[in-house]
Amino acid sequence: MDWGLANRMHRMFRPTSRNTVMLAVDHGYFMGPTRRLEDAGATIAPLVPYADALALTRGILRHAVAPTVPTPIVLRVSGGVTVLHDDLSHEALTTSMADAVRLNAAAVAMSVFVGAPHEHESLVNLGNLVDAGEAAGIPVMAITAVGKELEKRDARYLALACRVSAELGAHLVKTYYCDGFSKVVEGCPVPLVVAGGPRLESDRAALELARRAIDEGAHGIDMGRNIWQSDHPVAMLKALRAIVHERATVGEAMDVLASERAPAAAPA
Ligand code: 5RP
Repeated sequence: MDWGLANRMHRMFRPTSRNTVMLAVDHGYFMGPTRRLEDAGATIAPLVPYADALALTRGILRHAVAPTVPTPIVLRVSGGVTVLHDDLSHEALTTSMADAVRLNAAAVAMSVFVGAPHEHESLVNLGNLVDAGEAAGIPVMAITAVGKELEKRDARYLALACRVSAELGAHLVKTYYCDGFSKVVEGCPVPLVVAGGPRLESDRAALELARRAIDEGAHGIDMGRNIWQSDHPVAMLKALRAIVHERATVGEAMDVLASERAPAAAPA
């Protein structure tokens, strides 16, 4: 691995835990103004100090994040289809490596749709993006997207999608937690981080997901809705950090959540 690429990889992971807490705020690229991300700048600002990396598109980066921010940027560079279509796999690369360099990205990210109608294009796009990333010294994160078929999130499918992504040169992979997740980890030679998926039934459920993912070999999380759709986003992010970096139990993380919650507003 070239020095620049290795340096960018290391910037995203805490040296002590060798894990990362990425904040995912890229949903608008295909979902539009997602609930509680309508004003992306307002959602992101209080969370940035507690994120090891910020995963987003160039549009939101340029419009909603100050260039003074020291946080490494994971730039989403794929898109081209919206939730208005059933087949979400018809994506292409929508941002050039030259723009990723201009934006000082620590990594670029694209969705990979294994088993979907546009599997071939998405895998070829990944290969091309890795070529461009290697040339620029910028790591590539493959995101094993499941489109609208959330039931696809099983170990057999995700192990296949993660391994194929790594074989094509992805330097890290974002995937989903699933039963049998350790099989996904075993088959993937590059670090894995897990997404949270749609909002779970409680903050505790999201903390449990993170705990299990770390226990079974994930190198961190790249989580969105279960943080900023929580009623206590900053407290939630701090609780997740305790799990990912300090190996806190779910109970200890719940204590962090309780102690960091904003006090209830005084009655008028
Ligand atoms: C959208 C994404 C998201 O970044 C990813 O799913 C993580 O966010 P969440 O935890 O809300 O699922 O890749 O395509």
